[in-house]
Amino acid sequence: MTNHESQFAIYPSIKGRRVLITGGATGIGEAFVTGFAQQGARVAFFDIQDEAARQLVDQIESNGHPKPDYIHCDITDLDAVRTSVLSTIESLGGLDILINNAANDLRQTVEEVTPESWDRLMAVNLRHQFFVTQAALPALKQSGSASIINMSSISWLIPSVGVPVYVTAKAGIVGLTRTLAHEVGKDNIRVNAILPGAIVTEKQRRLWLTPEYSAEVLANQALKRHLLPDEVVRLALFLAAEDSSAITGQSYIVDGGWA
Ligand SMILES: NC(=O)c1ccc[n+]([C@@H]2O[C@H](COP(=O)([O-])OP(=O)(O)OC[C@H]3O[C@@H](n4cnc5c(N)ncnc54)[C@H](O)[C@@H]3O)[C@@H](O)[C@H]2O)c1
Repeated sequence: MTNHESQFAIYPSIKGRRVLITGGATGIGEAFVTGFAQQGARVAFFDIQDEAARQLVDQIESNGHPKPDYIHCDITDLDAVRTSVLSTIESLGGLDILINNAANDLRQTVEEVTPESWDRLMAVNLRHQFFVTQAALPALKQSGSASIINMSSISWLIPSVGVPVYVTAKAGIVGLTRTLAHEVGKDNIRVNAILPGAIVTEKQRRLWLTPEYSAEVLANQALKRHLLPDEVVRLALFLAAEDSSAITGQSYIVDGGWA
């Protein structure tokens, strides 16, 4: 079923807009790539999972939506980030919407964290959001009306354990979002953050969604069902569209009402 046949919103202001999504090959990022393509946007995405990315591009094209561009880019390599952002802007002919999504919620206890693993986890969870944005800013300024969406998490608002560096990075993203909103507001670029709760992606199902964790999630949520990536995408579409033209510097939670 396409969005046009479904009960969900179509945003005329997203059609034809140029969108860059980091970490778009799987999980919530895959749903972003699909969701924006369904709206008729010109989507480019970065990832390191080439096979998953190729399958996603084929699937979107075979469904008759605009074919997204996949760029292999390790977002922890800042030279590759800069080159890839610039070549993407050139091939899209500009940029209107940026979604900083790539991350890695690798479990590591307080005792296990080393200075090296701290730097690695900060690089994959926080640092790239700044540097992708920095490289994209000249094009976003030229857009005249741009939207940046930074993926944070509720993990720093709830009693999380076992992922201290990830949680620290995800809290930092909210601070980054607030200051960037003021840095770039004069150029009519909006910057907002999304804080998902427990969203059931294929990876979450495979690695973390044990019966015990599933029960814990449902006990904590007001909504007694698991949440899906498309439910995050629908907020991102709103924040990317002109429908949210006065909203910037904000953080929105999609967690089914976590206690
Ligand atoms: N799924 C959840 O429950 C949940 C909860 C809170 C926040 N989030 C946030 O939402 C976003 C998406 O979550 P997800 O569960 O789909 O994440 P995920 O870990 O499943 O996927 C992230 C994507 O980023 C890519 N990626 C990882 N390292 C990369 C690198 N070095 N270079 C380029 N790409 C890289 C992965 O290949 C993957 O396609 C993340 O920012 C995450 O922190 C997710």
